[in-house]
Amino acid sequence: MRVFRTSKSLVEHLSFETRPIGMVPTMGALHQGHLSLIERAVEENKTALISIFINPTQFDDKTDLDDYPVNINEDLRLIGEISNDIIVYVPEANDVYGNIVKSEYFDLGGLDLVMEGEKREGHFQGVATVVTHFLKTFSPDHAYFGEKDFQQLLIISHITRSLKLKTKVIGCPTIRESNGLAMSSRNILLSADHKRLASKLFEGLTFAKSITKKVPYKKVKSMVIDFFENQSELKLDYFKITDPETLKEIDLEKFSHRGRGFIAAYLGKIRLIDNLDMS
Ligand code: PAJ
Repeated sequence: MRVFRTSKSLVEHLSFETRPIGMVPTMGALHQGHLSLIERAVEENKTALISIFINPTQFDDKTDLDDYPVNINEDLRLIGEISNDIIVYVPEANDVYGNIVKSEYFDLGGLDLVMEGEKREGHFQGVATVVTHFLKTFSPDHAYFGEKDFQQLLIISHITRSLKLKTKVIGCPTIRESNGLAMSSRNILLSADHKRLASKLFEGLTFAKSITKKVPYKKVKSMVIDFFENQSELKLDYFKITDPETLKEIDLEKFSHRGRGFIAAYLGKIRLIDNLDMS
């Protein structure tokens, strides 16, 4: 495996590698969800490039950034188990941002103003800044993102289209624990009891899916909210079913089985998100 710390040395190296190049941007603390993206990049490309960078501009909460899990040696070991030919980019902030660590501003078509964007100010501007920087600098042919962060996937697809970047964005299915909990680097911060409780997010989404064809969205929503009223420590932040492309919420009087369900909840200080196709 070849590990690069600077984009300059990596760009030089990539010019000798065979295309297509498939990139998987990550913030490390890798789990099976990340590894599924990496495996796909290896399968579908001649060269696979993984970045591991905890991007400061996408954190609206300093404690969340400070507490974000770091495990670089284990990350490299897991990548090496997939293939020894993978290229890994592990930069410091100044290699990505220079001296001023700050987001650029992008028109994200309003996709950044709802759900995670509404709750985490500036989050998607930070994501768009770092991802477009990587795509412009390394020009991968393909870039892989998880449906676990469906809003992020839509926003990245939108911005690559509007900036006419040559990279094709590829969405990959959410990988879950056996109890349905979507894998996430933040799950390490949960106790065993909280992990059990966290699976209620997926339970809430599958319950919603089971009734979307039977009752109007208004009723689905109130039943899901009731389901969470009984979960003492798990605090529902939002539950919504939206159009899967515009992220506009479905009309309350209509049936919502063609939409996508999104959920966010707090377990103590940890914020969890999940989503599911309702069709
Ligand atoms: P991170 O949370 O490390 O996730 C990296 C990629 O793995 C994202 O595309 C994410 O959607 C995907 N992923 C995470 N959990 C997954 C799961 N359970 N199943 C499938 N895919 C999963 O998302 C980010 O980092 C950052 O915002 C980033 C795009 C790297 C920009 O900084």
